[in-house]
Amino acid sequence: MNRKFAPWAVVMALFAMVMTGCVAERPTGATAKKDPSEAVIGVSMPTKSLERWNRDGAHLDSQLKAKGYKTTVQYADNKTDQQISQIQNMITQNVDVLVIAPIDGTVLSPVIESAHAKSIPVIAYDRLIEGTDALSYYVSFDNFYVGELQGKYLEEELGLAKGKGPYNIEIFGGSPDDPNAAQFFGGAWSKLEPHVKSGKLVSPSKKVPANKDGWKQIGILGWDSAKAQSEMQTRLNSFYTGGTKLDAVLSPNDSLALGIEQALQARGFTPGKNWPLITGQDADKANVINILAGKQSMTVWKDTRKLGDRAATMVDEIVRGEEVEVSEGKEYDNGQMKVPTYLISPTVVTKENVADTVVKEGFYKASELGMK
Ligand code: BGC
Repeated sequence: MNRKFAPWAVVMALFAMVMTGCVAERPTGATAKKDPSEAVIGVSMPTKSLERWNRDGAHLDSQLKAKGYKTTVQYADNKTDQQISQIQNMITQNVDVLVIAPIDGTVLSPVIESAHAKSIPVIAYDRLIEGTDALSYYVSFDNFYVGELQGKYLEEELGLAKGKGPYNIEIFGGSPDDPNAAQFFGGAWSKLEPHVKSGKLVSPSKKVPANKDGWKQIGILGWDSAKAQSEMQTRLNSFYTGGTKLDAVLSPNDSLALGIEQALQARGFTPGKNWPLITGQDADKANVINILAGKQSMTVWKDTRKLGDRAATMVDEIVRGEEVEVSEGKEYDNGQMKVPTYLISPTVVTKENVADTVVKEGFYKASELGMK
């Protein structure tokens, strides 16, 4: 359920705070009313090295241009300093709204403060920006639910709820600097932890966090496929000799799944024979191809076009001084404020429904995936 978040409501609240003696400064949810053709939108994306961010950046850019905006879109090569200086440049250029997908959600507060000082509204895109009360909006998929879908998939496929097991599982976490990674793990762990506790899920490598907050110990920095591959290789070499079976791998996203799949292949695992269940997220092309080949079991598809469309709509509502639509009761707490948030629902993709999801919706052509 969505509701309109009225800039005037912020103004009223701030006025009330002034009247009661509180210092009323933030947040900035509105900019001076402008025509799109006069406005420049700054877009800061984390990296060009992962498929999903190329798609996100290109789609958001085209949506904003279609609405008449000028844009400046920058990719930061997964380097935090680079992202900060790119955003600072956009602030110096006086962009009208900033849309930022942070590399590290915890280090941007000073630069968000600079934007706030110039009354530039900031939308956190896909990943939350933490530790500042100067953020305007957050638009994302329901990240906890993404993790739940992965956990639920393994639970159902293994028959854990019916008491089957024990099964061997290897568990991976996302990038420790990405706040989304905590949400993904929290969601997955809410489904899997009971089975670990009951002994139906066992990890031969013992790389199992003590609780949902311990996930960073098994996190893969920068969501790097090569790092996931070498971690999986180490686990396979150390713990899966002498016929130990691997039944499942919890991979929080597709870039890690790809590395994990390469490590399995290199160790001679065979799809359909001794290949484990593997989860993922993003429906990256290489991973959907792997799903069709039996090398990955599922991915959680987040249609980045919907995210870009919604971010462009939010920008437009802000620039035109209209009410900004957000999801009812879904504010995200970033440690300093409850951020008005718009959440989009993701979709599970498996071999059985590739044609009815990513292909039918035009995310990929059947021919790109090697399908007829
Ligand atoms: C995104 C995922 C993505 C990961 C790596 C996360 O913040 O939500 O969709 O797989 O970053 O790029």
